[in-house]
Amino acid sequence: MTDIKKGLAGVTVDETAVSKVNPETNSLLYRGYPVQELAATQPFEAVAYLLWNGELPDAAQLGALRDTERAHRALTDDVRAAIDLLPTSAHPMDEVRTAVSVIGARETAGISNVMDAVGTPEENLERAVRLWAQLPAVVAYGQRRRRGQELIEPRDDLDYAANFLWMTFGEEICTRPQVAEPVEAGGVASVPDPSTGSGSSGTGSGSSGTGSRSAGVPDPVVVDAFNRSMTLYAEHSFNASTFTARVIASTLSDLYSAVVGAIGALKGPLHGGANEAVLHVFREIGSAENVGPWLDAALADKRKIMGFGHRVYKRGDSRVPTMKAALDTLVAHYDRPDVAALYDALESQFVERKGIYPNLDYPSGPAYDLMGFDTLTFTPLFVAARVTGWTAHIREQQAANALIRPLSAYVGPDERHVEGYVPDAAALETQDRPEEAAG
Ligand SMILES: CC(C)(COP(=O)(O)OP(=O)(O)OC[C@H]1O[C@@H](n2cnc3c(N)ncnc32)[C@H](O)[C@@H]1OP(=O)(O)O)[C@@H](O)C(=O)NCCC(=O)NCCS
Repeated sequence: MTDIKKGLAGVTVDETAVSKVNPETNSLLYRGYPVQELAATQPFEAVAYLLWNGELPDAAQLGALRDTERAHRALTDDVRAAIDLLPTSAHPMDEVRTAVSVIGARETAGISNVMDAVGTPEENLERAVRLWAQLPAVVAYGQRRRRGQELIEPRDDLDYAANFLWMTFGEEICTRPQVAEPVEAGGVASVPDPSTGSGSSGTGSGSSGTGSRSAGVPDPVVVDAFNRSMTLYAEHSFNASTFTARVIASTLSDLYSAVVGAIGALKGPLHGGANEAVLHVFREIGSAENVGPWLDAALADKRKIMGFGHRVYKRGDSRVPTMKAALDTLVAHYDRPDVAALYDALESQFVERKGIYPNLDYPSGPAYDLMGFDTLTFTPLFVAARVTGWTAHIREQQAANALIRPLSAYVGPDERHVEGYVPDAAALETQDRPEEAAG
């Protein structure tokens, strides 16, 4: 009898140098670095560089990546037009998936031979960086569109995380107005960099948009928590969406097609959609004192509790303590002990009753809620982060490719025939071949 590994559970399908998940030691390494160290010390741009290039960047390398990122931040007209074609009630994951399709069609326009679609390693690194740079505008515009708010242009005086928050919330996320400074011809005023606490000068050639010199400073507490969440979400070995991306890349399709497929996989609530689903659960429960009765009913109905459990980790997710600490900071910052109480009550009672621990989506859901993101925007935030890991894996797959094509054990009806059909000789010849037909 064929030994079937349902869901590929426990199956090692290939090697990777991008990240290592070790459930025994409850650790996650990106290119050898513990993820919690990266979250505590690095801007997200440096983590993205590490995933793509294998090493943390030096100052010049980080500066060059930031310049490219800033140059591609603005929402392009084609992507905006495509998003605007969708109903405002469309799920934002569908917007992001559509946006990546449009970006891919634009960036690969003119390739007339399908054999060239795969691109060179250098082209695909450039494509990965540009795609990563464009996604915050897509996510931010989606949320603003649903709220009936105007698009906010990016600011080239802010790093990735702060600019992402700026494009989503504008002045709402700012703690204080920035004093307008006189600007030399061709220069950009230096403003404090909330993600590092140091001053920085914009160097990008992208649109500086509205208010880069007189706008406020995005709240550094929120910027820090958001930056950490991006790092924690960036990469996680052969999870469902990354594997989807690798399957598509293995056919020598293009990087954008692989990312579009990955977004589809991530949307599901058993994977990335869980961070959105956690908030629906929190709303359903209401407050900490309702947890006991709610859990009784949910377990009696054999419901899966979103934000708990993991295919690989069985004794807790290595990323949770770092994200929980970021959530605690936000709880204190916004004075919302009720959120912490509900979080703690559901965690302790569920762990006690089922021995199943929270995954990263459990703390990140309420953290994004406190930051002010719409619940539907949570999984697109995951996309914006994970596109770095996906594209690192796509390039790794392409570098040592083997078409991913597993077998299946057939359990359908035995061979039978359409009444009156007379097979021709060629069909009989194919049927006589012993191997499974390709495709
Ligand atoms: C992530 C997940 C799909 C991993 O599942 P898996 O490795 O395939 O394990 P299973 O779904 O087969 O779960 C094994 C057992 O634990 C139970 N279980 C696992 N996660 C559970 C959860 N969140 N709530 C309730 N029960 C859960 C299953 O019901 C099953 O019980 P059974 O053996 O009595 O049937 C699963 O834990 C889950 O659905 N979690 C909720 C969604 C989520 O948070 N996803 C984000 C993952 S990062």
